[in-house]
Amino acid sequence: MDNRARGIFITLEGVDGSGKSTKARMLGTALEALGREVLLLREPGGTPISEMVRDILLDPRNTDITPEAELMLYEASRAQLVTQVIRPALERGVVVICDRFYDSTYAYQAVGRGLPEDDVRRANALGSCGLVPDRTIVFDLSPHEALDRATHEDGADRMEGAGVSFQRRVRRGYLKLAEAEPDRVRVVDGTGEKEQTYERMVAQLIDLLPELEGAPTPAPAHSHDPIPASMQWSPDAPVDADPREGDARG
Ligand SMILES: Nc1ncnc2c1ncn2[C@@H]1O[C@H](COP(=O)(O)OP(=O)(O)O)[C@@H](O)[C@H]1O
Ligand SMILES: [Mg+2]
Repeated sequence: MDNRARGIFITLEGVDGSGKSTKARMLGTALEALGREVLLLREPGGTPISEMVRDILLDPRNTDITPEAELMLYEASRAQLVTQVIRPALERGVVVICDRFYDSTYAYQAVGRGLPEDDVRRANALGSCGLVPDRTIVFDLSPHEALDRATHEDGADRMEGAGVSFQRRVRRGYLKLAEAEPDRVRVVDGTGEKEQTYERMVAQLIDLLPELEGAPTPAPAHSHDPIPASMQWSPDAPVDADPREGDARG
């Protein structure tokens, strides 16, 4: 798989409230200060189609969604994101930081909801179009600590409403992944202050991003800070031309 053109693909994982979004923001800030081009993404979402799928998935009215339908919606959102945004960015040398990727699908849909693991693996391979993250950080936190943090700031969405025993299974799913793929998937203790968890994460990225060695820790981010425009993908940015449109961008 031609995963390592020039960019670096980092995914952040963990239950809701484990610190993914704040750490994505801090890492992006640090890398930009070091002169890297950064793209911050979060799943599901990130392209116009993917955002529509996200709205379906996170709508609290959709409690009757079947696990199979849910799985395939995640994969639909992902395939669009990989093809239109992530791959082209990696080819340009960008550091792509994605808040959740296919390991979430494994942990939530297979281990959490109980879909057959082989089905989920195959769906993941298709949805990610074969793209494998260069490194995946799992922020590990007990469900209680995580729920506590998440519900502090956000109204609970459908995922967060799913309860502690579900979150416990999800956590186990993540730990299983890290055991199976220790090179790619690194578990980071998610407890403590934001600066501490940030530094633990950086220690697991140094081999890929040696410029982070000794770089200052950015000010702690807040989950709901707007993502700086320089780290956002926009539909106006250069993307893979839609083959059905011809060369519309001239
Ligand atoms: N290391 C940390 N220590 C204390 N609070 C944190 C830490 N990381 C995140 N938080 C807070 O916990 C909540 C959830 O963090 P967030 O980054 O949004 O998690 P996630 O994206 O994994 O759901 C936010 O209120 C955030 O400010
Ligand atoms: Mg988040």
